[in-house]
Amino acid sequence: MGKQARAIVELSLKDLVKDLNKAYADEWLAFYLYWYMAQTVSGRAYEDMKEMLEKVAKDELEHATELADLITKLGDVPPANPMDLEKMANAPYLMPPKNTADINRIIRIVTEAEAGAIEVYSKIAKKTLGKDHVTYQLVSHILSEEVSHEEMFENLLER
Ligand SMILES: [Fe+2]
Ligand SMILES: [Fe+2]
Repeated sequence: MGKQARAIVELSLKDLVKDLNKAYADEWLAFYLYWYMAQTVSGRAYEDMKEMLEKVAKDELEHATELADLITKLGDVPPANPMDLEKMANAPYLMPPKNTADINRIIRIVTEAEAGAIEVYSKIAKKTLGKDHVTYQLVSHILSEEVSHEEMFENLLER
């Protein structure tokens, strides 16, 4: 991002980049969790769950990519060391169930993760509304996907 593009951001760039880096760390933890559960889920009707988890994992990785792109455009870099991801994240890593066939537990874990993501992005959206249009646009886009993820898994619970 050039000088003028940064100058029109009516927020502390340092704060903004910190929020974005924390969200970036969340996305990697979410990606790993979903991807891992997609590889290990077992039991009856595991195939549908595997497919859903794989799809959402892909979305979370895409969110990390979009955030990394914005962070670098704002003149910073995302964390280089994966060991820092959990320390930086907004919430601790949610452990997958020991019983890989426990689909209900998987659904509870992912709905909790999505609820956390919705909270994080809605906060950043509020902060950037009318102040940083580029970040606002990206976090609104990510937020709408997290809302769909939550809904998709919540619908399974209601069955
Ligand atoms: Fe995400
Ligand atoms: Fe999500």
